[in-house]
Amino acid sequence: MKTLKKIIGAATVMVMTSTASLNAQKVLVLYYSQTSNTKAVAEEIATKLNADIEEVVAVTPYDGDFKATIDRCMKEREKGTTPKIKPVKANIAKYDVIFLGYPIWFGTYAPPIATWLGKVDLSGKKVVPFCTFGSGGLESSVKDLAAKQPKAEILEGYGVRAARMAAMPAEVDQFLKANGFLEGAYVKLQDFSPQRAVTDTDTKIFDGAVGDYPMMNAKAISVATRPIPYGIEYKFIAVDKPRDNAPMTPPPGGDKPGDKDLKLPPPGEMTVFVTVANGEKPVFTKVIR
Ligand SMILES: Cc1cc2nc3c(=O)[nH]c(=O)nc-3n(C[C@H](O)[C@H](O)[C@H](O)COP(=O)(O)O)c2cc1C
Repeated sequence: MKTLKKIIGAATVMVMTSTASLNAQKVLVLYYSQTSNTKAVAEEIATKLNADIEEVVAVTPYDGDFKATIDRCMKEREKGTTPKIKPVKANIAKYDVIFLGYPIWFGTYAPPIATWLGKVDLSGKKVVPFCTFGSGGLESSVKDLAAKQPKAEILEGYGVRAARMAAMPAEVDQFLKANGFLEGAYVKLQDFSPQRAVTDTDTKIFDGAVGDYPMMNAKAISVATRPIPYGIEYKFIAVDKPRDNAPMTPPPGGDKPGDKDLKLPPPGEMTVFVTVANGEKPVFTKVIR
C-alpha cells in the first residue's frame, strides 16, 4: 500500500488551466436524449460553462421501450432514413464551440443527431462530442462525426456508461478543466504501462468488472495499468467467448438480460478499461471495439 501511494503521488500531477483565451468564445450545448442520461451530462456542461443549451427533438419521439425503439430503428435503417426533427432554434453561425451530445445507438450517435448533422454545416466550428452508452461508442461515433462533417474541428470528447452516471459530475469537471474550458486544477494521468499477459489476479479483476454485464462475454488476454487518484486503472485487451443468445445491449437504464432477436456486434478483439478504487469492486468504464 505504501508503495502504491508513492507511485500515485509521483504519477498523478495536478495541473492548472488558464481559460483566458476561451472565455470570449460563444458555446452552445446541443443534445439528443431518450431516457435523460445524455440530458444530465448536457445540463452539467451547460451549467458549468454558463452556456446556451438546446435539445434536439424528433417530430415523432422514440418513446417506446427498448425493444420498440430497436424495432423502429431497424425499419428506418432498412429504408435508409433517419427521423424528422423539429427545427433547432439556435443560430449555429453565432457559436464558436458546439458541445454535441447523444446516446450511443448501434455503435454511433442516435439517429436524431444523424438527421441534424445531415442538415447543418459545421465548417470551422469547434465540436466537442459527448455521449452516454451501455458499454462504449465515443470513439466510433467520433469517426462517423468526422466523416459527416469533415470541415469541423472535432476536439477531444467525453463519454460515460449509463451505469456510472454518479461519477459523471466529477468527471465532467475534470474533462472541462483538462481541455481548457474551465479554470482550475485537474489531475493529469500518466501513460499506461506496456501491455503484458494477464495473471490470475488480473483475470479476476476483469471478470469482476464485466461479469454482470449481459452484453459482455469476453476473456482478457493482456493488460496495462496506471495509477489514478485513489486506485488503479486497467486497460485490458480481450476477445469474445462464444455467446449464443446474448443480448446486443442492455435496455437504457437497466441491465436486464436481453432479447434473442437482437444481434450482437461482430466478434473480435476489444479494449476494456476498468478502474479499481482502493477497497472497492472493479468497474468497467468503457469498451472500444
Ligand atoms: C436503440 C438503442 C440502441 C443502443 N445501442 C447501444 C450500443 O450500440 N452500444 C452501447 O454501449 N449502448 C447502446 N445503447 C444504450 C444507450 O446508449 C444508453 O442507455 C444511453 O445512456 C441512453 O442515453 P439517454 O438516456 O440520453 O437516452 C442503446 C440504447 C438504445 C435505446
